[in-house]
Amino acid sequence: LDNGLARTPPMGFNDWNAFGCNVSEQLIKQTADFFVSSGLKAAGYQYVNIDDCWMTHTRDPQTGRLVPDPVKFPDGISGTADYVHSLGLKLGIYEDAGTATCAGYPGSLGHETVDAQTFADWGVDYLKYDNCNNAGSTTQQQYITRYTTMRDALAATGRPIVYSLCEWGVNQPWTWGADVGNLWRTTGDISDNWNSLKSIIEQNLPLYPDAKPGAFNDPDMLEVGNGGMTDTEYRTHFAIWSMLSAPLLIGTDLRKASAATMAILTNKNLIAVDQDPLAKQAVPISDSDGHVVLAKPLSNGDMAVALYNENDVAARIGTTAAAAGLTKAPAYTELDLWQNTTTETAGTISAVVPAHGTVVYRIAKAGATWSASPPATDLGIDLP
Ligand code: DGJ
Repeated sequence: LDNGLARTPPMGFNDWNAFGCNVSEQLIKQTADFFVSSGLKAAGYQYVNIDDCWMTHTRDPQTGRLVPDPVKFPDGISGTADYVHSLGLKLGIYEDAGTATCAGYPGSLGHETVDAQTFADWGVDYLKYDNCNNAGSTTQQQYITRYTTMRDALAATGRPIVYSLCEWGVNQPWTWGADVGNLWRTTGDISDNWNSLKSIIEQNLPLYPDAKPGAFNDPDMLEVGNGGMTDTEYRTHFAIWSMLSAPLLIGTDLRKASAATMAILTNKNLIAVDQDPLAKQAVPISDSDGHVVLAKPLSNGDMAVALYNENDVAARIGTTAAAAGLTKAPAYTELDLWQNTTTETAGTISAVVPAHGTVVYRIAKAGATWSASPPATDLGIDLP
């Protein structure tokens, strides 16, 4: 969406994956505090986002406005936003393009103008807009209409608000989302297990032509740290999200995060790949029997190359600089983004990748003059 926002994918936190309906002002404030004290803010994380269950079951009878749950949010959303803003961070909220949210709280369908204005008045910086109880809408045009009505209501407030479409990939939002929102969910909800992660990655790999500054595929929020996967699998989760130019929305209880979790979430090399200003999504340049190679062109002419092993046994996965779309050079340097070590190669890019693991290199020409050459957009690769 051309609203000047999310020129690179949003980075932040959302409470849903770790807390479900147990959101509160205290949790949001503590998370914001932790962003500052832990270095997450310095690493680029900015949005602290509230998901479903923040409101009461009825609108204010006088104003028609949504009412924050006074027990969960004693200072309201506006008091919470003030606190988050005082730390130099931004606040996100959740609503639904239907008659009720997924958890049964009042939806925005038919109330878009008042709700957008309420969010703007409270100082909200980000809206995630869900798809439950959507009045039986099925066609793509009905979807576009519901989501466009809120886009226009947000724009009319004049406040910059990142707009996140959460229709779960039902009506191919990658074909129309760029005109309506800053990001769009491509799939159903992620869960904290390997099969879910693997399936979501497979569904997102072919969508690379549709991402650009201000408009991103959203494979859902991070599960890193929640305990249902190994650290190798969580590293794959974070590495592939970075290659996909996906939003990096932390979905774990940061107050209890382990050192391993924090090391993944603050990997500067991968964050730089995710946040590269070219904002291209990685192209899947080969996929043979679950050995996947992805190439993401970067703004300084480097190429990020991921070797992803979705199989249950370790394997050598490889490609070449030429196949990854790099122009010819006598040699290339390759920075291993997890190990943070540099080696030189004449053109072969290869590693033994553990089961469910992902090795990522940032490849640059050694010595030679650079001429950036992103891979062709259609490489004719068939993905599952
Ligand atoms: C469905 C969404 O896909 C989830 O991310 C979460 O927002 C829940 N609804 C909340 O009810």
